[in-house]
Amino acid sequence: MNRRLWWKLCGLLAVGTLALFWLISLLGATTEQQMSFIARHHQETLRAWGETAERLYNSGNEQALAKWLEALQARENTWAAVVRSRLEPLAGSRLQEDFMDRFRLGRDVEWKIHLYFVENPTMEITFADGVTHFLVTLPQRMRPGTYLPEVRLVLKVVLPLTVLLIFCLVIYRHVMNPIRQLETATRQFSEGHLGARVRSLLGGRNDELASLADTFDRMAERIGDLILSQRRLIADLSHELRTPLTRIDMAISCVEEGINTQHFIPRLRRECDLMQSLVEDTLTLAWLENEQPALDAEALDLTDLVDSIVSDARYEYPDHQLSLEAPDTALIQNTSQRALAQAIENVIRNACNYTPAGGIIRVVLAADNGAYRLTVADQGPGVPPEQTELIFKPFFRACRDRENAPAGHGLGLALARRQLEAIGGRIRARNRPGGGLEMELWLPEARL
Ligand SMILES: Nc1ncnc2c1ncn2[C@@H]1O[C@H](COP(=O)(O)OP(=O)(O)OP(=O)(O)O)[C@@H](O)[C@H]1O
Ligand SMILES: [Mg+2]
Repeated sequence: MNRRLWWKLCGLLAVGTLALFWLISLLGATTEQQMSFIARHHQETLRAWGETAERLYNSGNEQALAKWLEALQARENTWAAVVRSRLEPLAGSRLQEDFMDRFRLGRDVEWKIHLYFVENPTMEITFADGVTHFLVTLPQRMRPGTYLPEVRLVLKVVLPLTVLLIFCLVIYRHVMNPIRQLETATRQFSEGHLGARVRSLLGGRNDELASLADTFDRMAERIGDLILSQRRLIADLSHELRTPLTRIDMAISCVEEGINTQHFIPRLRRECDLMQSLVEDTLTLAWLENEQPALDAEALDLTDLVDSIVSDARYEYPDHQLSLEAPDTALIQNTSQRALAQAIENVIRNACNYTPAGGIIRVVLAADNGAYRLTVADQGPGVPPEQTELIFKPFFRACRDRENAPAGHGLGLALARRQLEAIGGRIRARNRPGGGLEMELWLPEARL
C-alpha cells in the first residue's frame, strides 16, 4: 500500500520537532548572552565614578573623598569604597607577574554578569597606581537582564506554542484540503452531478489521499455509467412496450365490442408473451450490467453444447443449411452453461433469421491460443460497416426499415456480449468479404 502520507507526516514531525528544539535553545543562549552585559552607558557611568574617586584620592583630600562616597552610596542605595590592596607573599613564596596583572578585587565593568545570582556583584575600577581600587556594588538600576523572566516565558512557552500552532495548521491543511475536495465532490455527486471528480483537483499529489481520490473517481465513473445505462434502458423499454400495449388496447376494444373475438384472443396472448420476454430480457441485461454477477462455475464440453444448439436450429429452420465443424471434444471449465448457451443460441438464431431460405450458415468451433473460437458465418445482408459495434447496444436494430427484417427487440446481442464478458469471453461482428455477417466468439479457459 502507498504510505507516502505516513512518511511525509513522520518526516515533517521529526524534522519540525528537532528544528524547534534547536531554535529554542539557540535563541535562549543568544538572548541570555546578550542580556548578561551591563549597558554601555552604565559602564561609562561606573568608569566616571572610578575616575572621580581616583581624582579625589590623588588630590589627598580624604574628607572630600569620604563625602563623595557617602553621597554616592545614599544616592544609588549601594555600597562603595576606595581600598588599597597589597599582596604579600609569605613563607618564601612569590607572585607571578601575569597573576598580578589579572588580580582584581571586584568585577570589571565589561565582564558578563551572572543573571541567576540574586546578589548584585561588586564592580571594581583600579587606579593608575595598580594597588588602589574603587569598589562599588552594582546599583540595582544598572543590573542587566531586567526582562529575563518575560524573555524566558516567550522563549519557552509563547514561541513553541506559536510554532506548533503553525505546524498543526500546515499539517491540517495538507490533510484536509483533499478531504474537503472529496466532500464537495461527494455532495455534488449525490445531488445528481454525475461528472463530479476529485483526482484532477489534487494536482501532482501522490499519496494515500490521492489514491482515495482515484478510488472515488473510479466509483463515480462506474456508478455514473450505471445510472445512465439504467436510465437509457428504462427509456428504451418504455418505448418498446408502447407498441404492444397499443396493440393490446386495440384488441381489447375489439373484444369488448364483440368483433371477431376468436381472432383477437390468440393475438392478445402473443403480445403478452412478447412483452414478457421483453421485460425478462431487459431485467437480465440490467442485472448483468449492474451486479457484475458471479455466474456458475462449471465444466462443460463445448462441442456437445454447440452441437445441440445447431440441431435445434436445423429443426426450427428446416429451409436453411447449417454446417458444423468442431473437434471431438472441447472441454472448458469455470464457465456457465446457461449464459454460454443463451449467447450462442442468440447468435445462431440471428444468423438463421437474417439468411434467406436455402442459405448456408457455417458454424466452426476451433481451439485458438488457449481458448476456443466459435465463428458463425451466414449469407444474410450483413450490417453497415459503421454499425458492427452498435448492434451490441441494447435495443439497437440495424436497418429497421429493411424489407422483411425479422422482428426483434434488439436485445439478443447486447445480452450475449454481457453474458460472455461475465464468463471472461468476448464477441465481435464483421462483414464477410463475400457478403453476410460473421460473428466471432472467444471462450476462455480451454483445457485441451
Ligand atoms: N446475422 C445478422 N445479419 C444481419 N444483421 C444482424 C445479424 N445479427 C444481428 N443483426 C443486426 O443486429 C441487430 C441486433 O441484433 P440482436 O440480436 O441484438 O437483436 P434482434 O435480433 O433484433 O432482437 P432480439 O435478439 O432481441 O430478439 C439486429 O436487429 C440486426 O439489425
Ligand atoms: Mg437476436
